[in-house]
Amino acid sequence: MTDLSSLARSLVVPGKGILAADESEGTADEKRLAAFGIETGPEMRRKFRDLLLATPGIEEYLSGVILYKETLSQKDTSDGIPSKEVDGLPFSELLARRGIIPGIKVDEGLEPIAEGSKETITKGLLGLPERLAEYHAEHGTQFTKWRAALRIEGDTLPSAAALVENAKRLASYACEVQRAGMVPILEPEVLLDGAHGRLRSRAVLEQTMRVLFETLNEQCADISGIIIKTSMVLSGSETGKKDTPEEVAEDTVGALMESVPREVAGIVFLSGGQTPDQATENLAAITVAARAKNAPWPLTFSYGRALQEEALSVWKGKDENVTEARAVFLARLAKVAGAIT
Ligand code: G3H
Repeated sequence: MTDLSSLARSLVVPGKGILAADESEGTADEKRLAAFGIETGPEMRRKFRDLLLATPGIEEYLSGVILYKETLSQKDTSDGIPSKEVDGLPFSELLARRGIIPGIKVDEGLEPIAEGSKETITKGLLGLPERLAEYHAEHGTQFTKWRAALRIEGDTLPSAAALVENAKRLASYACEVQRAGMVPILEPEVLLDGAHGRLRSRAVLEQTMRVLFETLNEQCADISGIIIKTSMVLSGSETGKKDTPEEVAEDTVGALMESVPREVAGIVFLSGGQTPDQATENLAAITVAARAKNAPWPLTFSYGRALQEEALSVWKGKDENVTEARAVFLARLAKVAGAIT
């Protein structure tokens, strides 16, 4: 096994998963803090990261955390929770000291693929090698994430152009990251938004992965040293249909087995707007189905919202709520990690 594939495997070890704490400034302010009535700005974003990353005991359930570049320059001060041991450590070091691998989101968000288009392409290849070298050498990051977003609309979207162009950028990104000695997570997210049925979602996931791996095969990436981050197969959010965990599991594992090569180091799931309970129950059913079908890769979670939402609603941005919010966060982590065991 190459160094990169064993590093990748260490992110998908049994019983552990990855926390996505990599929201950009705008997303953290609007969709995490303000959405819960919490003040915004750099210090509140630091406290938000502190709330999660300095929670005692997270190392039992987390192999890695995906950080955002702003967080790399911020430090833990364990607000309201004096702790000599961790006070004032850069967050990436705080994680590394607990045996949690620090990772970094390196894409720079989405832009329309063409003027007026509903579809997007992901930005961030410009200057990527320099940024990777800095994150790795100065902050000790060991893995990275790049997210593309694919919209379903009837039988017309995603367009072939969106699939191919996003796959090309994901592949270029993966090659650069491996050259820099880190493990790339490739996240071609098939969005939940829309009026499509679950079977259409399954077909799009399969098609997305097929195009991605055709493109990867033409480029330099060693697929035994990559991790795929994927959506689950679900009915579109506008249908109001609640798929059963067994339906989700059958179609998700089925689609991935049809389209993702066995050499890939692991597959991790995003929560994509599911409630914490849905994301936990669906992951548990996926784990059962994957075992029954002898799926070749380790599977685990890489949730953002489904791990954070309950803690944010308890915290409300107040120091006096930190202990209770951390307990709620740890309890959800334990449930999600329990789903994969
Ligand atoms: O890019 C998306 C995040 O890494 C996962 O976030 O679980 O809230 O969908 P989510």
